[in-house]
Amino acid sequence: MEPRIIDSPLRTVFEFDYGVQAEDMRGLYEKAKRDQWNASRDIAWDTPEPDDGRVLADELVDGYGSPIWDRLSERDRVELNRRMAAWRLSVLVYGEQGAMLACSQLVDIVAGTDEKFFQATQVMDEARHNEVLERYLQTRLGGLHYPMPANERALFDVILGDPRWYIKTIALQLVAETFAVSLFRMMAECARDPLLGQVCRRILQDESRHMGFGMLALPGIVRESSAEERREMEDFTCEAVEKVLTGFFPAEVYQDVGFSPAQVAEVQAYRRDVAARNDYAVFRKYFKRDMHTAMVTNLARIGLLTERVRPRLARLGVQLPAAA
Ligand SMILES: [Fe+2]
Ligand SMILES: [Fe+2]
Repeated sequence: MEPRIIDSPLRTVFEFDYGVQAEDMRGLYEKAKRDQWNASRDIAWDTPEPDDGRVLADELVDGYGSPIWDRLSERDRVELNRRMAAWRLSVLVYGEQGAMLACSQLVDIVAGTDEKFFQATQVMDEARHNEVLERYLQTRLGGLHYPMPANERALFDVILGDPRWYIKTIALQLVAETFAVSLFRMMAECARDPLLGQVCRRILQDESRHMGFGMLALPGIVRESSAEERREMEDFTCEAVEKVLTGFFPAEVYQDVGFSPAQVAEVQAYRRDVAARNDYAVFRKYFKRDMHTAMVTNLARIGLLTERVRPRLARLGVQLPAAA
């Protein structure tokens, strides 16, 4: 695939004071150094595959349980399961690349040595995530990739093209990583391939540190922002949440298994119906609740769960606790 070129104006802050100034931030950096893992050493790549070839639980395939699903042969179900896994992992592997690039920009533009040191570790973390997911795709799924969905591309175009560190951090460490943590947790739980479970659990070890950066760095800038800047942060947060939550439908996965356009439409209708009834398998329900709770809690902690933001999140289907 051709690389994507994104222009990004960066303002590099060269620090001269290297002593500890922000102890909490330096603590995150220390943890990052201590907890580095290595996909070449710490993942058991020779773990046997499940006999039936499934990667994830069938319940994660949209259309599972529908009449069209019931008519599929076992071979087609397994094929759909594997292609759906390749699609999800493709979305994630591009996300890791985007996160690595965003953090490398953050090394330049954040002020403070502790912040720069931490971001340098996140660059390495995201490189390892990019690497481990790609190795999984190559090892288990024959290197099959699906293209980057439009929503994800639009989100990273903004993250990488905006010069301000806090816009990058709101979108990446706050919104996208909150979402990714819930997603990796769900995938770890319902992986049928134990190797995928290992990969997801290793990635998760790093993610709380990444969210920790946002939790430490953002409250101050939100507190000190002017009314106009605050409004911009609120708007941007809602747009990022919307991009992350808007479920893109991987029609190409179904086409590749041989579904006709009418059958793809049937699956989409079934998916809308399931969503309207919130009639998901237990772990999908749990994922939604887990992610919404984390998103709301994190936004509240950094001071962005304001009266302007609450109704907009509610319209996006985010479950909010009653206003305190
Ligand atoms: Fe990551
Ligand atoms: Fe991350």
